[in-house]
Amino acid sequence: MAGDTPQTIHLKDYTPPPFLIEQVDLRFQLDETATKVHSTLVVRRNPAGQPVAHLRLDGQALRLLAVALDGHDLGPNDYRLDDESLTLLDVPDAFTLEVDTEINPKGNTALEGLYLSSGNFCTQCEAEGFRRITYYLDRPDAMARFTTRVEADKARYPLLLSNGNPVASGELENGRHFVTWEDPFPKPCYLFALVAGDLALHEDTFTTMSGREVALRLYVEHRNIDQCAHAMRSLKRAMKWDEETFGREYDLDIYMIVAVSDFNMGAMENKGLNVFNAKYVLARPETATDHEYQWIEGVIGHEYFHNWSGNRVTCRDWFQLSLKEGFTVFRDQEFSADMGSRAVKRIQDVRDLRARQFPEDGGPMAHPVRPESYIEINNFYTATVYEKGAEVVRMLHTLLGGEAFRKGSDLYFERHDGQAVTVEDFVAAMERASGRDLASFRRWYSQAGTPVVSAERHYDAAAQRFTLTLRQHTPPTPGQPEKGPLVIPLAMGLIGADDGRPLPLQLEGEAAPVGDHRVLEFSAAEQTFTFVGVTQAPIPSLLRGFSAPVKLEAGYSDPELAFLMAFDGDEFNRWEAGQQLAAKVILGLVADHQAGRSLGLDETLSTAFGELLADREVDPALLAEALALPDEGYLAELMTVVDPDALFAARQHLRRTLAAAHRERLTALYRELSGDAFSIEGEAMGRRALKNVALGYLGELADEETVALCAAQFRRADNMTDSMAALRALSHLDRPEREVALAAFYERWQEDPLVLDKWFSLQAVSRLPGTLDEVKRLMGHPAFSIRNPNKVRSLIGAFCAANPVRFHAAAGEGYRFLADRVIELNALNPQVAARLLTPLTRWRRFDAARQGKMRDELMRIRDSGGLAKDVYEVVSKSLEG
Ligand code: TRP
Ligand code: ZN
Repeated sequence: MAGDTPQTIHLKDYTPPPFLIEQVDLRFQLDETATKVHSTLVVRRNPAGQPVAHLRLDGQALRLLAVALDGHDLGPNDYRLDDESLTLLDVPDAFTLEVDTEINPKGNTALEGLYLSSGNFCTQCEAEGFRRITYYLDRPDAMARFTTRVEADKARYPLLLSNGNPVASGELENGRHFVTWEDPFPKPCYLFALVAGDLALHEDTFTTMSGREVALRLYVEHRNIDQCAHAMRSLKRAMKWDEETFGREYDLDIYMIVAVSDFNMGAMENKGLNVFNAKYVLARPETATDHEYQWIEGVIGHEYFHNWSGNRVTCRDWFQLSLKEGFTVFRDQEFSADMGSRAVKRIQDVRDLRARQFPEDGGPMAHPVRPESYIEINNFYTATVYEKGAEVVRMLHTLLGGEAFRKGSDLYFERHDGQAVTVEDFVAAMERASGRDLASFRRWYSQAGTPVVSAERHYDAAAQRFTLTLRQHTPPTPGQPEKGPLVIPLAMGLIGADDGRPLPLQLEGEAAPVGDHRVLEFSAAEQTFTFVGVTQAPIPSLLRGFSAPVKLEAGYSDPELAFLMAFDGDEFNRWEAGQQLAAKVILGLVADHQAGRSLGLDETLSTAFGELLADREVDPALLAEALALPDEGYLAELMTVVDPDALFAARQHLRRTLAAAHRERLTALYRELSGDAFSIEGEAMGRRALKNVALGYLGELADEETVALCAAQFRRADNMTDSMAALRALSHLDRPEREVALAAFYERWQEDPLVLDKWFSLQAVSRLPGTLDEVKRLMGHPAFSIRNPNKVRSLIGAFCAANPVRFHAAAGEGYRFLADRVIELNALNPQVAARLLTPLTRWRRFDAARQGKMRDELMRIRDSGGLAKDVYEVVSKSLEG
């Protein structure tokens, strides 16, 4: 890479593959440092492809040993070879190609292709990892049937897995053995997987809707065999749910999941053989928090749902990534909503969207849900493609209604089973099944940026008319200066200001009201909706359930927000009103802090907080969400120039003063909820969440009594949720109880790497001033390794992305620290390095002094030499313009 500028790939340049690969036979002779791969490809010219003379195959970090065409060995004159490809010159229309390569799994620190994790072989091929295994047409529209023979030392690698079904196995000389797998479904190579090692098996079965029995096999390291039950239960629930909700049945006789310790992302949906980051599989109450239980269920569901949305129907090219990811995230969100509380799930998803996707949309890497160009596709596994993509699918669901949406989904799977298709094919199926014209809706896929919607309202009491004028605009993003209006489904209701009751909704021109909840279709730059027969002054509840991924400026007063918190019939919007009120108060405190004024406590907010605490009707999980203040990341989004110090001071002040003002109620609530016996069911989780929110507030008081409360919970905890909540509260205090607890936690969990990840992150996000030094010291801890992505994310990632006040310390030492780590990781694992870099890319949001320091560090990375494409793209786009 060093030297020349990496190439940009454009969607408009797409052409079909010039050759088709009908059959692939792979033979692996596994060896830690010198694995031999023999591949036999049955190739023919693609009638729909361009007539080219040469066949160019992708390949990276490979040692080419031999090439043969139709049984004849080829010499250097028959092909061209460089760092990224093997080109066979003047090939016939149909032929068989054999290629022998050698690879070094042990030296593979990028964790793409074939590598070793805890001594076991595993693969990661999405997006372009297969080219690190053998020369191939590494693109998702090249689909082939795979047969894979895996051979290895039997004592060290008793288990040999690949996609599909085992069809042969046997013993070989020198203590080696082999297993041959056959996958009957044609697939792109990014869905290829191989695992070899010594793993423990947790097994179960599932009977599908048509009565077929599927073997479910979960493979983990032996020491973790007692942590599989939750993942297995989640898998069975996901299989059942997809049959009931989407009519999708599993299609092979075996479904395998392997948990590995070293993994760049969350998990991977390889056909019949998912590979998971162990963090999204392993759970028992002593080691996993309630949130982790929920994440595991969601990720297990996500990868399972890919079997249809991704594998049976796949992507034509990587610009279509959201076709599988946006749709599958929507599916996993709906699954989780059905398994637990729908409102709480929605709140968490919206928090996440605002915390990760909104800043992305407003930053230098902003891109549409269907990007138009990229340098490194790994950089486009983003919150925009995943989470905003899911919001776009959700809007289709809202606009078409559940029934038509399901018809559209059925039609999509039926039309395109076995094909590699585009986002356009998905929308076309929805359009066909619903009979609706979605021409304008498509702009959601091509236009980047978060729309800002403002609402202006007027009530005419004499005429009983209420008018709502909506305006939308989307700020420019890199490469897209001009924006057009979007089709925005705006779910809403009107609430009577006099009695707090919902009002019937009748638009002018309609015969009769349609009930008290409806979806307005807002599709122009400006649009006015007139409601008639409105018998009292209404307060509108807008964007219910967050029906579109926009920033709403509704212009509510504080008392109106407090009113909505109490009376809105939509649970999400009751929560949202509380968040908006808290955000207004915090931004007011920020201004006070910046002006050197003393900080007070807002009466409206404090009263509302007290009323929430007294509410015994509401679901505890929902109450826990309502009591939590908006996080610093979201609040930063609301500021013109981010001031991390003032923001931190304001938010902390509010937490402390709320805790002081409501100490008795918080304590009572805490005591009331502390007596529960442990259970992992939803109800118990909700009560635990609420209890720990109360503990978190009380911990802010940091006096003898509250510290003792935290320390006692830490000592007595019989589950990780309670243990972490207490330790988190203590971790912010400069007191001996903190050190005692951290040491005890380490002592107890030193053998469990996933629990130690939590221990690392907790220290990394501590608000104490010496945290950066602590993080640097922890990098030298024997349990830390820069080569393990989970460790990097828990310690370095957590500090830089989740501890804004310390990361943005005015002298710039946080920035320097991050740049040093990015430079270090660029050489080891570019994918992880590029992701870690994100906080620095936001430099334009800060004051001039911080901007200068952040930019200096970006330039230092740029000039450090030998940048991988991943890091190069993020750094150069961040510095542009
Ligand atoms: N397809 C995977 C998912 O959605 C994403 C993924 C896993 C991935 N590992 C990766 C993407 C490595 C790029 C590189 O769950
Ligand atoms: Zn996915």
